Amino acid sequence: MQIAIIGAGNVGGALAQGLAAKGHALTLGVRDAAKASELAAATGAALASPAAAAAEAEVIILALPWRAAEAAVKGLGDLTGKIVIDCINPIGMVDGVLGLLVGHTTSGGEMVAGWLPGAHVVKTLNQVGAEVMANAAQMPARPVMFIAGDDPAAKTAVAGLLTDLGFAPLDAGMLIRARILEPLAMVWINQAVLRGMGRNWALSVTTKGE
Ligand SMILES: NC(=O)c1ccc[n+]([C@@H]2O[C@H](COP(=O)([O-])OP(=O)(O)OC[C@H]3O[C@@H](n4cnc5c(N)ncnc54)[C@H](OP(=O)(O)O)[C@@H]3O)[C@@H](O)[C@H]2O)c1
Repeated sequence: MQIAIIGAGNVGGALAQGLAAKGHALTLGVRDAAKASELAAATGAALASPAAAAAEAEVIILALPWRAAEAAVKGLGDLTGKIVIDCINPIGMVDGVLGLLVGHTTSGGEMVAGWLPGAHVVKTLNQVGAEVMANAAQMPARPVMFIAGDDPAAKTAVAGLLTDLGFAPLDAGMLIRARILEPLAMVWINQAVLRGMGRNWALSVTTKGE
């Protein structure tokens, strides 16, 4: 599957390593190719501008800061029919502490979908730190990763990629459920960063069975 990763920072880098290890063809969509050249060499990824990377891909992963998201996402062009994985958490300083900048009546995921009419936007890979994304397969139990999106086929394809990365995918419903998955990221951030738990942990699901 041809995948474009837009943004080659902590998240883009972790996902590039994990997906390249599973044989996916990657292009890093970046504004500064020199800065991403080491990651490209390590993963065998091609380098292109964000719009050129997105134009060639079946799946586009958004690994951008929220503050840059609207302009950068709108600059990707027409992504009608393509799968867009939205990892972005709409976070910033709220009343002096880190918090969600949108919620209750919309979500970052729904706003991204509004900027990309016709694309199949799937909210996922926003709920744990990049360190977990890089090492999910090494965890003693498979970490859960919730998925929210409106297109069933897109969610099935994304679930396959999450499995490749070592996660246990779990369908949370339609894209409107991004409104609960973005606060879930704050649960992880609170424990990892503000409560000092560190970054190498994740939630997993246990069931009693039949
Ligand atoms: N870090 C985590 O553990 C984590 C976990 C889950 C979700 N998230 C979410 O994932 C997103 C990315 O986080 P991150 O930690 O990977 O951020 P990061 O390390 O700062 O990387 C952001 C990337 O976006 C690129 N970028 C910024 N503005 C851009 C623009 N206008 N056009 C094209 N590219 C642009 C940056 O490129 P330059 O180098 O050129 O600036 C950089 O490659 C955020 O929304 C965050 O909330 C992060």
